[in-house]
Amino acid sequence: MVEALREELADLTASVRAFLEWHAATGADGLPGHPSALHEALGASSPDGGPPAPRRAERGFAGLDAPSPPASRGGSDAAFAPPAQRSDAGGASPPQPERRSAAASPPQPEQRSAEAQAARPPVQAQRSPEPSPRPAVSAASAPRATAAQPVTPEERVTRLALLAEEVRTCQKCPLHEGRTHAVFSRGSPLSEIVFVGEGPGAEEDLQGEPFVGPAGQLLDKMIAAMGYPRDGVYICNIVKCRPPQNRKPEPAEMATCSPYLASQLALIKPKVIVALGATAVQGLIGTTEGITKLRGTWKLYKGTIPIMPTFHPAYLLRQPSAKREVWSDLKEVMRHLGKSAPDRG
Ligand code: URA
Ligand code: SF4
Repeated sequence: MVEALREELADLTASVRAFLEWHAATGADGLPGHPSALHEALGASSPDGGPPAPRRAERGFAGLDAPSPPASRGGSDAAFAPPAQRSDAGGASPPQPERRSAAASPPQPEQRSAEAQAARPPVQAQRSPEPSPRPAVSAASAPRATAAQPVTPEERVTRLALLAEEVRTCQKCPLHEGRTHAVFSRGSPLSEIVFVGEGPGAEEDLQGEPFVGPAGQLLDKMIAAMGYPRDGVYICNIVKCRPPQNRKPEPAEMATCSPYLASQLALIKPKVIVALGATAVQGLIGTTEGITKLRGTWKLYKGTIPIMPTFHPAYLLRQPSAKREVWSDLKEVMRHLGKSAPDRG
């Protein structure tokens, strides 16, 4: 009994630390030990998984986040251009506090598949869902995005590696012209959760890995706060090559690249997709609604995989007060996965 409590406490302490680091990483630091933040973290970890007391959370975030974020944080990396260029900001308008309540549970595939089908991007209806195999090596092994047959973990890893190789040399859309590296993924192909962003930024293009710039560092804090190791989750993007000046990818570019993402998701079959920003949601289900409206409400990918839309971490760098909503969305994800956030790994 005492042992169990001790373990609980150790877990909780680690999660609170990760949570506070996440706060500190946004530029609203200097108050890592701020009692309100601690309260938020503790409130969020109630064992029944119930929602945190809103007033307390509000105070905590307000205390940490006022005044405005340092402009240098969001703007220091070319990967995170101002909202005018970067579409993942979800618009300039701040999130509506009353929208933070998430649906109690994700839609069930059988209930919502018709809607999800209807919401599919046009490309899905017109194109084959698998990537048109280019290199001979992947022709036989290209996974079918809709295939129902089980794939062993070894096969999964092999097929993803083949797909990554195909993407490395892909020239199917004009974005290949400006890239240094195509950016396929990072993290575990065995993950139950997949984070989907918009497209590589400057740092990602240089390193060939998604989310390694400032937004990526914040994403890492979010992942840690959820109790996952950095590489315990799978992370990828809608388009695999960096759009010039970090502009939003064109619908045609997203459509051309989408079979790769479809194959990644078909192979990994995650229990949840976290869509980071409006472009990610658009690339996944075709909706053009703003992220402020979409976030916190479950959607469904291809009638099967629950999607939780939330703000892009690049937006949080500019608007740290929106962390409150993101944390609420991530806790909803944890609840769906049967984990009490944030005190479980
Ligand atoms: N923003 C994204 O959407 N994806 C990345 O990989 C990096 C920044
Ligand atoms: Fe190919 Fe996608 Fe890169 Fe376009 S963005 S060249 S489709 S990998």
